[in-house]
Amino acid sequence: MCGVVGYTGTKQAAPWLLDGLQTLEYRGYDSAGIQVVSPSGNLHGVKCAGRVAALRERAASANPVGTCGIGHTRWATHGAPTDKNAHPHLDGTGRIAVVHNGIIENFQELKRELMAAGHEFRSDTDTEVIPHLIQEAFNGPAKGDLALAVRNAADRLEGSWALGVICADCPGTLVVTRNGSPLVVATTEDGAYAASDVMPLASVTSHVVQLNDYDVATLTADGTIVIRDRDWRVVESPGSFDIDWDASAAKMGGYSDFMAKEISEQPEAIERLLAGRLGKHGIELDELKLTREELAAVDKIVIIACGTSYHVGLVAKAAIERWAKVPVEVEYASEFNYNEDYLVTDHTMCLVITQSGETADTLAAARRMRGMGCNVFAITNVLGSTAAREADGALYIQAGPEVAVASTKAYTAQMIASYLFALRLALANGNMTPEEVEKHYHDFEAVPDLMREVLSRRWQDKQAARRFRDKVSSLFLGRNVSATTAYEGALKLKEISYLHAEAYPSGEMKHGPISLIESGFPVVAVVPADHVHDKTVSNIQECLARGAVVVAVATDGDERVAKMCQEVLWIPPCPDQLLVPAVSVIHLQLLARYVARDRGYDVDKPRNLAKSVTVE
Ligand code: M6R
Repeated sequence: MCGVVGYTGTKQAAPWLLDGLQTLEYRGYDSAGIQVVSPSGNLHGVKCAGRVAALRERAASANPVGTCGIGHTRWATHGAPTDKNAHPHLDGTGRIAVVHNGIIENFQELKRELMAAGHEFRSDTDTEVIPHLIQEAFNGPAKGDLALAVRNAADRLEGSWALGVICADCPGTLVVTRNGSPLVVATTEDGAYAASDVMPLASVTSHVVQLNDYDVATLTADGTIVIRDRDWRVVESPGSFDIDWDASAAKMGGYSDFMAKEISEQPEAIERLLAGRLGKHGIELDELKLTREELAAVDKIVIIACGTSYHVGLVAKAAIERWAKVPVEVEYASEFNYNEDYLVTDHTMCLVITQSGETADTLAAARRMRGMGCNVFAITNVLGSTAAREADGALYIQAGPEVAVASTKAYTAQMIASYLFALRLALANGNMTPEEVEKHYHDFEAVPDLMREVLSRRWQDKQAARRFRDKVSSLFLGRNVSATTAYEGALKLKEISYLHAEAYPSGEMKHGPISLIESGFPVVAVVPADHVHDKTVSNIQECLARGAVVVAVATDGDERVAKMCQEVLWIPPCPDQLLVPAVSVIHLQLLARYVARDRGYDVDKPRNLAKSVTVE
């Protein structure tokens, strides 16, 4: 979704703003812009539809001069992705510029009111009401105090926002505020910075300050940051954290794309996650912040997530129910939010799974669960994210920055993190002995090498990808936890290759999707050596009998599958069936990437998608 950057200091603002926007490209966007203010109070901006590269070209010839500025990547919601609708947006006098991430729900009534008062609008966006409201306040009740004017304007807004504001009458002052959309600030020797996430800041600092909803921060050129809360009291000790990865972690480092890099990083991510987790008394999971008795009392778990994280939830359900014997429901956050009849017990616990920790639907669902009296535990990748801050406890998966829009390393790391949780719960409620927990933990330790083995077989995926080159649709099948791998594989394929992929539990295929199959139709069947292997083999037969081309994911030595299927993506045997999804999915991540590249697409920045979906 939209990205926001801001800077005020001693350097020219435009170069860092452009670099900052480039690091935010991964969030997904379709236009971009910057605006700077010179020390003498001249506003100068450039913006355009398309990529930051195009914006750079325009900036190079326009040469905006100023040491204070704001920048934006826009993911269109209200109004098409055009030059006119790109941010920053100005007020009618052209002296106030605003960038905005989020959605203003009451913009139509505000626009009507402002137009009746003589304001003229130039774009189709919801955002444009904001600079006009700020101008009214700045020249009215706020009496030239930009921060106060921003707060007054924000008081009129409904919806979500992270705002960056500059004004020709206050050169060197940058005001930022947020409600529901992420925003962090940082101070350095050469000035003060703001951004919608830590990615752009990692190149200038390792320490960032978080803003709470409705905080208004005033950043000045000497690097000072003054934060005021909703009651306009100065926040003396705002929340802050250290970025625990090096800026180089967010660079491609020799890979041709971030997706390739992140797929390859999975073994190390799992090793980091597991390190030090086995203690004298079982799994160390202090992040839970629950006593053993409180954990033992949990009688129902609701997992809340979206997209790939939802698929983690499906596998987590299997692990929790098998090991801890606690019933689990997995809910799409966006659906859960509007199910008014949802039932919880006195001891229901909520597990929130979110890579970014900023997904609007997931945050809303977690808040609702808390409102229902449930303890909320978040599994997330992003330090200091809203999900982590609002939860009762949070487990960071430490996978490092995930830049490619299609989630890969977060998927497997979140899965193993949820397994750690399952073991901790099983030990607390007496469904596992410490010895059994230890045995499972050692099984988990085998995962990185099993992943490395699959990664070394990537040529199989490259070869199988050719089967999809000229296709328009495909079917992914699997049973039990492998059905989840099928869902995830299909999601990956459609996200980045724009090839329709439908996933079904294998046994359901004959109840509808089988009608899709004709000669040459590609089917991906996840059929590892497990207790449902033979059932899935029968479903593969049904596909082959109708002319399908079957790409199977199978366990080494499975002669039957090798003889039947046109392509086989081999996985090594895993010590536990529940570990197969973390290993087999790597083939499907690689497959999706090869298909997308064969078809000539940018695998890191698929069209229409955003890395972090911060609007409902
Ligand atoms: O950051 P989250 O895990 O909350 O994001 C949830 C989904 O938006 C995300 O997994 C999405 O489905 C990815 N693009 C999948 O590759």
